[in-house]
Amino acid sequence: MEQAVAKTPEREAFYRKIDGENLAALWNVMSELITPQPRSACRAHLWAFDAIRAYMTEAGKLITAKEAERRVLVLENPGLRGQSKITTSLYGGIQLVLPGEVAPAHRHSQSALRFVLEGKGAFTAVDGERTTMEPGDFVITPSMTWHDHGNESAEPMYWLDGLDVPLVQMLDASFSEGLAQDQQRVTRPEGDSFARYGHNLLPIDLNRSSRTSPVFNYPYSHTREALERAKRHDEWDPCHGLKLRYTNPVTGESAMPTMGTFIQLLPKGLKTSRYRSTDATVFAPIEGRGRSVIGDQTFAWRARDIFVVPSWHWVTHEADDEAVLFSFSDRPVQQKLDLFREDRGNA
Ligand SMILES: [Fe+2]
Repeated sequence: MEQAVAKTPEREAFYRKIDGENLAALWNVMSELITPQPRSACRAHLWAFDAIRAYMTEAGKLITAKEAERRVLVLENPGLRGQSKITTSLYGGIQLVLPGEVAPAHRHSQSALRFVLEGKGAFTAVDGERTTMEPGDFVITPSMTWHDHGNESAEPMYWLDGLDVPLVQMLDASFSEGLAQDQQRVTRPEGDSFARYGHNLLPIDLNRSSRTSPVFNYPYSHTREALERAKRHDEWDPCHGLKLRYTNPVTGESAMPTMGTFIQLLPKGLKTSRYRSTDATVFAPIEGRGRSVIGDQTFAWRARDIFVVPSWHWVTHEADDEAVLFSFSDRPVQQKLDLFREDRGNA
């Protein structure tokens, strides 16, 4: 499939003739379409949070969250510039909400995840319920649910946004609308979803059609406790250290249908074995510092930096201090479509 078909004057004339009819010869493009392994324009890259924070502070003086609708700096993969993509299928951005600001209510087909990086006390409202956010919290806004953000605290709040924008774009399935009011009406007390769905219990007659988890804030205090207790076994996966996936308690599947989300702990000094998978993955360390080797590039990271491992690139991680990393990818989509593949090297 790799071999290019020879050019002849007769063939070239033929291609020109059919071109006018919106036809093309497969034999000229097949090797680009069906590659022996993933061949992505997506590149490994790291964004240092300190630099982003400085630019966001500047952006905070240029435009309000209300005027911008969402004051976000898009993390554009260097191999996919101008497309608002952090990987081929996913979007990533850093959002800032300043004290007293509101990011107005809207809804859209695209599902969004928030992973809180810095600040404490801002809220996200989803479907009539508010949740106050803290660093390390993983918050979901499911497809077509009304959501707005506000910051009634005294400090700026930064979080990572992950959305399935490119995926929805590819499928031409985007709908969106705004609400007449900036903020949706709060109809349920804070913590209601977590009380009903977040304790290995479910309402007895639950009949839920959405594939997205009804738990819309997975608080870091709980996530961290899970890691802290599990690490006592001192049993480490050679490729991942200690890695857990966030799940939808109703189905046991990923918390969101289009994006898989994960949390992992790397003990100090652990150097993982090489690993690769077909789901390009965005990592957001929230504690500690370390290094990741992606292909032949080394990236030093610390808490709040963001880095990308493209599809089918070998990666190893090494933690200088005990580190906790959040990550997300399109893995559930690939698994549903029988496309997901992983390779644990020799581990
Ligand atoms: Fe949104």
